[in-house]
Amino acid sequence: MTESAGTGMGLRGSTITGIGRYLPRRIMTNHEIEKMVDTSDEWIVTRTGIRERRIAAPEEASSDLAYAASQEALAGAGITPAQLDLIIVGTATPDMLFPATACILQDRLGAKQAGAFDLSAACSSWVYAVAVAHGYIAAGLAKTVLVAGAETLSKFTNWKDRDTCVLFGDSAGAVVMQACEPGSGFLSFYLGADGAGGSLIAIPAGGSRIPASFESIERNQHFMQMNGREVYKFAVRCIPKAIEEAVQRAHLTIDDVDVFIPHQANIRIIDAAAGRLGQPREKFFINVERYGNTSSASVPVALYEAVEGGRVKPGDVVVLVAFGGGLTWGSCALRWTKPS
Ligand code: ACO
Repeated sequence: MTESAGTGMGLRGSTITGIGRYLPRRIMTNHEIEKMVDTSDEWIVTRTGIRERRIAAPEEASSDLAYAASQEALAGAGITPAQLDLIIVGTATPDMLFPATACILQDRLGAKQAGAFDLSAACSSWVYAVAVAHGYIAAGLAKTVLVAGAETLSKFTNWKDRDTCVLFGDSAGAVVMQACEPGSGFLSFYLGADGAGGSLIAIPAGGSRIPASFESIERNQHFMQMNGREVYKFAVRCIPKAIEEAVQRAHLTIDDVDVFIPHQANIRIIDAAAGRLGQPREKFFINVERYGNTSSASVPVALYEAVEGGRVKPGDVVVLVAFGGGLTWGSCALRWTKPS
């Protein structure tokens, strides 16, 4: 198991100056899934808290979702795409193996001055990407970075597998990050990984280990496979630890935190984490009932809605925390600076 060492917050601070979100139009309810596999609305709500999720249109790829979210983030920051130095897309469901989804987005935005690459850390991708963007800004390598989390998990879901198909959804979130005084904006980061748990959630085929073949398709190896029970246990252990690390590295106490924005995978995981931390559930922003688990899009979409709904106000201390395949996890503390 490896964990990033130190806070490494650098000389300059970084903060979010624009935020956007995109939700595909199509809503799929639990009742619709009842007609596809042997499940029930009651089972799904009780075990996960999910009531509905968004599903991308057949012609929509992850870069399309990222593009819409990014346009809103750029408008919020009051900048043009030409001002971007760097674009990072966190995604587990890229448009294709290469070119990177970030390059497709860069072209579509017309962000001609920007470098562009994808970051792959499953559901933790966006939090990892924000940490990388902070590093670029703190080191003086970039002034303005667009960080999107975009997923079309529905296209990698086996809709005949009730263990997984009830859990996931599609969406995108994006932020513009720019320099600020240290002590404002992002206050700490904590990233971790445990590759030994890699097989617990995976899309086994389509890469160099199991290249695409008729056989791999017959075996459903291009779809997501998951050991839900083990991932659940990992998540319940991981979230409190990741939150505590982010808080400690920001030289704060847990009671200083106004709002927690956790990865929206399962309401029971969030409840268990709140219980372990001895924090009231009301401090945790939750929207899993409407979107399910949207992987790397989940935290930025939740942050967007928390800001839009007035749950996160300027000056608030917010902790973002994600976990996912890899296994990976990441957290950060920030003082919200953007007026809502
Ligand atoms: N409908 C009805 N029954 C079901 C369904 C379903 N959709 N899915 C499973 N079951 C059954 C199982 O077959 C099992 O039956 P059995 O007892 O006869 O064997 C029973 O329900 C209980 O199964 P469990 O796995 O014990 O159910 P659990 O309470 O653990 O809930 C769940 C399952 C919701 C998947 C939970 O384990 C979970 O949320 N895990 C974490 C998943 C997660 O967060 N994944 C995302 C990781 S992030 C990323 O990188 C994408």
